[in-house]
Amino acid sequence: MAPRRQLTAFERSIPDYRKRILISLARALILPPLLTFLVFSLCRSPSIWFSLPLVFLSIPISIGLRSQYTLWSQDREAARLGAHPITRVRGRWPGNLDIVLRLLKSFESGYVLQGFADLFAEYGCTTLNTRFFWDDQIISMDEKLFRFVAHTGFAHFEKGILWHERIDKLLGTGLFNAEGNQWRIGRQIARPFFTKERISDFHIFEQTSSKALNLISNRAAAYQPIDVQDLLQRVTLDAASLFLWGPPLNTLDQPLTQPGRVVLGPKGSAPADGGGEWDVFTDAFETVAVLITRRGVQGDTWPLLELFKDKTEEPIQVIMDWLEPLVRQALSRKAKRREANADAKISIRDDDSVFLDYLADQTDDVEHIRYELITFLIASRDTTSSLLTFVIYFLALHPDVCSRLREEVLDTFGEMGSPTFEHLKKMEYLRAVLKETLRIFPSAPLVARTSRDESLVIPGTTKLYLPPKTQIMMSSLLAHKRPDLWGADVEAFRPDRWFDPALLNKVTQTPFMYSPFYGGPRVCLGQEFALNQAGYFIVRLLQRFQSFSFAPEFMPAGSLPPAHWAGLPGRQGIEKIHPAINFTLHSKVRGTSFCGRVG
Ligand SMILES: *[C@@H]1O[C@H](CO)[C@@H](O)[C@H](O)[C@H]1NC(C)=O
Repeated sequence: MAPRRQLTAFERSIPDYRKRILISLARALILPPLLTFLVFSLCRSPSIWFSLPLVFLSIPISIGLRSQYTLWSQDREAARLGAHPITRVRGRWPGNLDIVLRLLKSFESGYVLQGFADLFAEYGCTTLNTRFFWDDQIISMDEKLFRFVAHTGFAHFEKGILWHERIDKLLGTGLFNAEGNQWRIGRQIARPFFTKERISDFHIFEQTSSKALNLISNRAAAYQPIDVQDLLQRVTLDAASLFLWGPPLNTLDQPLTQPGRVVLGPKGSAPADGGGEWDVFTDAFETVAVLITRRGVQGDTWPLLELFKDKTEEPIQVIMDWLEPLVRQALSRKAKRREANADAKISIRDDDSVFLDYLADQTDDVEHIRYELITFLIASRDTTSSLLTFVIYFLALHPDVCSRLREEVLDTFGEMGSPTFEHLKKMEYLRAVLKETLRIFPSAPLVARTSRDESLVIPGTTKLYLPPKTQIMMSSLLAHKRPDLWGADVEAFRPDRWFDPALLNKVTQTPFMYSPFYGGPRVCLGQEFALNQAGYFIVRLLQRFQSFSFAPEFMPAGSLPPAHWAGLPGRQGIEKIHPAINFTLHSKVRGTSFCGRVG
C-alpha cells in the first residue's frame, strides 16, 4: 500500500463522521442500560431476572422518551411563535425504518425521486419532516420554502455539518462547498470569469462541437448507434479542460465507443482501460460521485457502512494526484511572469487566459486551487452534458419539436453560419426547448441546506416552524412537476408552454417554481456559459443532421426503464431511459447508457 499522505490543514478540520456516529450510538445503546444497571445495583434490586430485562428495555424506552420530548418541545416552540410544525412522516416501524427501506428501493428501481413524490402525495403536502431514525430531516418541493432558504432567508442557512462530513474531502475549500467569508471571496474571484465577454468566446465551443460532429458523421453514414451520453460528456469535458486549465484533454480525438461492446463508468464515461490519460481520472471522478450520492441516500447513518474504511479516500487521491502537476505548472508560470514583471496579472480579457492561471494569480495554495478545479469541473462537465443528453433524448422522442427547432436553426444561421452570442439569444424556440428540458430534467435535481442554531418560521408558507440545525432537501425536479403550479399537462414535454403569457407571468411572480439554476446569492455562476455551450452545440448539430432515433437494442436491462414502469401514470410510463441521480442527473448506465442513431 502506498504511504498515507500528510493531511492538509483543511482536511484536519473536516468533521469526523466516525466520532459522530460512535457518540450517538453510545448515547442510544450503551448509556441507558449502563445507567439502569447502576441504579439497580445501588438499589440492591431483588433479582437479576427482574432487572436484566429492564436494563435492555431501557434502550427503546429512552429513545422513545427522548423523541417524544423533542416533539413536545418543538410543538411548544412552534406554538409560542404562532407557527405549525412541519408534518411528520409516521411509519409503521420504529424510526420510520419501513419508509427508509421503501425510499432506498425506490432510489434504485423507481422513477427519479418518486419515493419522495409518493410521500408528498400520501400526506397531501409539499414539505415533510421524515423523522428517519428519530431525527428531523426536511424534504420539500415548496417554492415558498425554496425562496426563503435560497434568497430572502439566505443568512439563516448553511450547507451544514452533515453535508461537510459527506463531501468535504472532495470539494474542500472550493466555491461549491465554502461558507461565509470564504464563499464570498471565492465567488468574487470567480465571477469575472463568467462575464459576457468571457463566455461568448466561442472558439472553445467550435473546437469541441466540430470534433464531435465528425465522430457523429462517421457513425451516421453507416447508420451505427452512438452512446449519446458518453459522447456529450466528452464534449463538455474537453471544453471544460480548455476553459479551466488550457491543455485540452482531447477525449474527442478517441474513436467513439461501440455500444454493447464496452462497459462504461458509473455515470457513462469511457472505460478505465480505454488507454487515454483521462480515463483513470474520470473513472475516479464518477466513482466518487456515486459513493457520495449513496451516502446522501443512506442519510445520517451512512458512517455505519464506512466505519473501517472511508471508501472515497482512494478515488479522491487519484483525482488529487492527477490535478497536482497542472496546479504546480500554473504556479511556476506565475513565478516566471512575476520574474519578468513584479505585478504581472492574468487579464480575463485575454482570450487565451484560463481559469487556472487566473486562480494561481490570487493564491499559492495548491490545495485550494485543486479543490476549485474539481468544483468547476463537476459544475461544467456533468451539468451541461446532462442538459445536452436530455435535449437529444427529447428530440428523439418528439420529432415534431426536432423539425421545428431545425427550422429555427436554419432560418437563423443557414447550413454553415457560425452561431454568435447575439443570435443565439434571439432563438426563442431554442430557449424554450432548453428551458423545458431543464424543467423536466434539471441537472441538479436536489439541493441541501441546513438551518443555523435558531428556530425559524418560514414566511409565505402556512407558517411552518423549522427547528434549529435541521437539514432541508429541496427538489427542483419535483417542484417543476407540480400540477397545481404548472397545470394538468405538467408531465408532458411541451416547449410551447414557454410562449404562454399566463405561465410566463406566473413564473415571474413565483420565481422558485422554476429553479434549475437554484437562485439567490448562490445562484449558478455558469448559467449563461452552460446555455451558450448547449445552444451552440445544438445549432451545429441540427445544421448537419435532421433526425434522432433510439437504439434500445444496444441498451441492456438496467439502463433501459424497468419493465414494471410500463403503463404507470406520468413520465414513468413513457420514458425510454432510466434517469438517475449521482450529484447530477444522468441517464442510468449498465455498460452503456442512452444509445441512439443520428440521420
Ligand atoms: C447512481 O449511479 C449508479 C450507477 O449508474 C446507479 O446504480 C444508481 O442508481 C445511481 N443513484 C441514484 C440515486 O440514482
